[in-house]
Amino acid sequence: MIISKIKLNNFRCHEEYLLACRKKTTLIVGENGCGKTSVLEAIYEALRGKSFRAVDRDILKRGAEYYRVELDFADGEKTVVTFDGDHKQFLVGGKKWSRLPKKYRYSVVLFLPDDLHLVGASPGRKRDYFDRSFSEILENYSSSLSKYNKALRQRNELLKSEFLSKDSLFSWNVMLAKYGCEVRKWRVAEILAINRRLTEVYRTIADNEDVVEVKYEMMGGEMDESGYLARLEAEFERDKIIGHTGFGVHRDNYEFIFNSKMADGSASRGEVRSIILALKFIEADMIYEKVGKKPVVLLDDVFSELDEKRQKCLVQNFKDNQVIITSVDYFDGD
Ligand SMILES: Nc1ncnc2c1ncn2[C@@H]1O[C@H](COP(=O)(O)OP(=O)(O)OP(=O)(O)O)[C@@H](O)[C@H]1O
Ligand SMILES: [Mg+2]
Repeated sequence: MIISKIKLNNFRCHEEYLLACRKKTTLIVGENGCGKTSVLEAIYEALRGKSFRAVDRDILKRGAEYYRVELDFADGEKTVVTFDGDHKQFLVGGKKWSRLPKKYRYSVVLFLPDDLHLVGASPGRKRDYFDRSFSEILENYSSSLSKYNKALRQRNELLKSEFLSKDSLFSWNVMLAKYGCEVRKWRVAEILAINRRLTEVYRTIADNEDVVEVKYEMMGGEMDESGYLARLEAEFERDKIIGHTGFGVHRDNYEFIFNSKMADGSASRGEVRSIILALKFIEADMIYEKVGKKPVVLLDDVFSELDEKRQKCLVQNFKDNQVIITSVDYFDGD
């Protein structure tokens, strides 16, 4: 799947925008605020079904009545997304859909400037990062996670309600234990798969002998579904006071470990950048192994934060992917 053309109407600051894409690398250069990230956002939306940073109402150009994204592919297929302020529609495969069907979702590796700061980021930011990454790789991950989040919202609502009793929470506790354990199972497996390659890939970028690892820290440690349920029930009084669910996979954390120490505080800036590049390369490989197709790579303004050696590494690693890059400056990618 190769994107050949992108056409936008009323998408953020773009009233009308047309870009012909190259088979390998397309570079979008422009000053701050000219709408570069918005173009990647539109591509992501048409390939994955939703934006990586906002809801549709925020995307719709101020004062406009609709937005439209059209992606044309080299094989003659196309995906069209429209939003009229209330309803969103995907036109793909000759049919209209209110959500992008799974079979028309294409894999994407998205690299945002903020990702370079992942090592020292908050637990919530790290969870979001890995949640998005695992959703790209595992078909059932996002479904387990969204069922978990839905049950969590309902339980939290009940915790604030006047009808609250320990019994009234039971069915939500059961759901949280079921989907929470599922989410953990996926996360453990994916982190294990990442760790199997992380040090090796890191060393090809950094060219040294460091050992790197991601640690998935489960609140309360490893436990089965009944242990999880018991823990939720034991936290009832505390949850009642704080008004939300204090225990669960929504509070789990990831730590980057560098030569047996926390990377945040011990690895240098360059080493941290190499860890993140390695993580991205592994993500792209894992998607390829699962899906059998090279993902489209969207690089948003990351080159300015990398030295020449790491820039070259990035270009070299994605030489067989279609890559769309935004940058404030022209750079020499060779
Ligand atoms: N709904 C909207 N309607 C109109 N303009 C918008 C809307 N949402 C965002 N904008 C504006 O669109 C512009 C483009 O934003 P975008 O983030 O794509 O720029 P950028 O080129 O990536 O900038 P930077 O180089 O700073 O990252 C910004 O000026 C922003 O304020
Ligand atoms: Mg930007």
